[in-house]
Amino acid sequence: MPKHRPPNHFGEVFPPVPFDAGRYAKRRRQVFRQLGEDVLLLYNPPEAHRTHDLFYRYRPDSDVYYLTGFEEPEAVVLLVGGPCPRFIMFVRPRDPEREMWDGLRAGVEGAVTCYGADEAFPIESFDAEIGRYLEHARTLYFKFGRDEQFNQRVLTAFRAAARRRHRQGPAPGVIRDTLPLLGRMRLVKDADELLRMRRAADIAAEAHLRAMERARPGQYEFEVEAELEYVFRKRGALGSSYTSIVGSGPNATILHYNTNNSRLRDGDLLLIDAGAEYGYYASDITRTFPVGRQFTAAQRDIYDLVLQAQKAAIDAVQPGARFNAYHEVALDTLIDGLRHLRLLSGSHDEIRELRTYLKYYMHRAGHWLGSDVHDACTYFTDETRNGQHLYEKLRPGCVVTVEPGLYFAPGVNDTPEHYIGIGVRIEDDVLVTRTGNEVLTAAVPKEVADIEAIRCAALTQEKNYA
Ligand code: GLY
Ligand code: MN
Ligand code: MN
Repeated sequence: MPKHRPPNHFGEVFPPVPFDAGRYAKRRRQVFRQLGEDVLLLYNPPEAHRTHDLFYRYRPDSDVYYLTGFEEPEAVVLLVGGPCPRFIMFVRPRDPEREMWDGLRAGVEGAVTCYGADEAFPIESFDAEIGRYLEHARTLYFKFGRDEQFNQRVLTAFRAAARRRHRQGPAPGVIRDTLPLLGRMRLVKDADELLRMRRAADIAAEAHLRAMERARPGQYEFEVEAELEYVFRKRGALGSSYTSIVGSGPNATILHYNTNNSRLRDGDLLLIDAGAEYGYYASDITRTFPVGRQFTAAQRDIYDLVLQAQKAAIDAVQPGARFNAYHEVALDTLIDGLRHLRLLSGSHDEIRELRTYLKYYMHRAGHWLGSDVHDACTYFTDETRNGQHLYEKLRPGCVVTVEPGLYFAPGVNDTPEHYIGIGVRIEDDVLVTRTGNEVLTAAVPKEVADIEAIRCAALTQEKNYA
């Protein structure tokens, strides 16, 4: 079994975790066991243009990486099931001229010798070669992606193979999404994935703590973002796992705010939702803290309630519980608290039924976390009850985020004046264990007393980091 992947540049390469071809081969064997005679096709798209002829830094497709460790653009991975399962790759061939500009390539030979493909071809020959691998498959597992051209090439090949099959007897095949197959596998993290996720969590935790210690009234939000990203890169993360949200004051009520260019004002809250990506695995943390030394009374009302909901929801992350159980706990806690603060009227059941809570709480309490931040796993099983699909059960090795929040955006009717402009979310990454759960991001303080102590110390210090 090959032990090393080829570097795509010169010099000593930083290994997020050492390349181990056996790990990927083991995952492929697991796929083959489920494939029967069928075929799975995965795709690393071309680099994405940023402007003109310049590109974003490349990130491979999570499924391709999960099953091969291959990181180069424009590659097809084909797993052909059957009595002698085969792993086929289509990759960019070696090309000294292009490699001088873009970096070294594994090439067709490297696909076999380093990545363990049984056969490999130049990507240019995909259309000519793919047909014969589809001939015996009743089902092609393929995820239609954003690259419409490639979707069309797969459809063309599939139709041609279906026509041939039709003439020869068996029924034409079907294309099925890869999600139920690969998503279920990716739901439960193996030791290698957990190592990466713990590292991603640790790095993001350090970054949040640094931001909490260094944010100052008068700075711009992007200065705080810079503190986060300094830690991400310094500690070997690929960068942020999504564009960091650094929202002060009313900006914290905009769920996907990432302009990050307002000035921090003493008296406001600062909401930071930022995670690191390490070895293609994500963390996702949110903390909300005062720009000054202390929460105001109104901020504290809301913060205490969100924290109470978050802790109750974390307690509900248990092996065997359905995915929605912790969401329900978070929602029930928030509804009770909002009624208590007289922010919502009516009975608990009416509020739930009429969903009037959506005014202040409009997202779910979390999602799967893994190689994708919103990890590509199924949320529902095939099992039904009263015509409804049941939610997946949490199993040891699953990782979820727990992130309730409350948002009092300006301009929403009937919100008492003193709550307007407050946005609070608290988010941790939680691993389901055999006996309960483990909060991977517990190193970032979230208790009011701890946060205020950090902010007081930070603002008392002479040091001005600006
Ligand atoms: N930052 C993305 C999320 O929390 O889902
Ligand atoms: Mn988040
Ligand atoms: Mn999240």
